[in-house]
Amino acid sequence: MSAKPYQVAVIGGDGIGPEVVSAALKVLEATGIRFDFQSYDAGDACLAATGVALPEATLQGALAAEAVLFGAAGNSAADVILRLRAELGTFVNLRPAKAYAGVDCLHPATDMMIVRENTECIYAGHENVLTPEVTIATRVITVQASERIARFALDWAGQHGRTTVTAVHKANVLRKSDGLFLACCRRVAREYPALKYEEALVDSVAMRMVLDPGQFQVIVTTNLFGDILSDLAAGLIGGLGLCPSANLGPRHALFEPVHGSAPDIAGKNLANPTAAILCGAMLLRHLGEPQAAARVEGAMEQCLAAHETTGDLGGKLSTEQAAQAVIKRL
Ligand code: NAI
Ligand code: MG
Repeated sequence: MSAKPYQVAVIGGDGIGPEVVSAALKVLEATGIRFDFQSYDAGDACLAATGVALPEATLQGALAAEAVLFGAAGNSAADVILRLRAELGTFVNLRPAKAYAGVDCLHPATDMMIVRENTECIYAGHENVLTPEVTIATRVITVQASERIARFALDWAGQHGRTTVTAVHKANVLRKSDGLFLACCRRVAREYPALKYEEALVDSVAMRMVLDPGQFQVIVTTNLFGDILSDLAAGLIGGLGLCPSANLGPRHALFEPVHGSAPDIAGKNLANPTAAILCGAMLLRHLGEPQAAARVEGAMEQCLAAHETTGDLGGKLSTEQAAQAVIKRL
């Protein structure tokens, strides 16, 4: 265990963001690991109060911290989270989707990691209006980013006992851009002879994920396909309230639930804190505290199995009670 407390920047944001983040912080504190949590503002409420959705102090706080825990932003999400991911240089968006005992889901055999490229593709921001009736968007795919994400996925698979990595693409149509992505994945995969490397078209993967998700262990893909397939994966295991994610780069790491600010249930102590608590476990693992991470995950799994959950999963607990239930089982 580290002698000095870990410096963690906390950005609750809007809607249920602060509620689920507060639940996750209580669980993190209950592990006994020492943290120095610094809270920062961002999001719609911050925009209304100060005129900016992502204040400079928040950005500097995130850059200075050892890790960032983020809740959710509302309508300003693109100005907050996309900018944070870019400024922190987090080139990977790691999105696990794992079915849990006790949670009603489509496929109990689901246990996959989606490794999404986080910096380019159609989300690179090159959209133009040519005429009022014609718009274009440019898809950016580079060797540097493609090789980097392929290497990350293959390393991750090797380090986590997975045997197969699937590169997901649409190179039969996007011959140049996804052709390049695929060539990079193939080249890097040759450096990992112990792993089975497969390639699959994104549309067929969408169907196969619904019919038989157990066939996928690690998916590596470009930004847009990763965004869509990870929400599909969330649907397979029981919904957005369960899915954490990690944005990782060479220097910085930001952890956030996949869900948004859920204005329909905000302020009512109803939000499911599972995704945020599992973000806390990913944060612990990133900081080099794998045992504490496993304790949090184990306690969370026990609560789900015992139906000690919020209403979205059929349970009777409030957000705060759900966090206390996890703490009791730590
Ligand atoms: P959402 O994820 O906020 O909500 C979708 C549905 O899932 C809602 O019915 C909500 O009640 C439910 N839900 C989400 N998280 C839940 C939880 N932890 N427990 C229980 N139920 C939960 O997505 P939506 O409605 O599309 O967007 C709402 C706002 O969130 C928008 O302003 C959007 O821009 C923002 N957003 C922000 C994101 C971010 O900050 N990273 C990501 C996605 C959306
Ligand atoms: Mg998304």
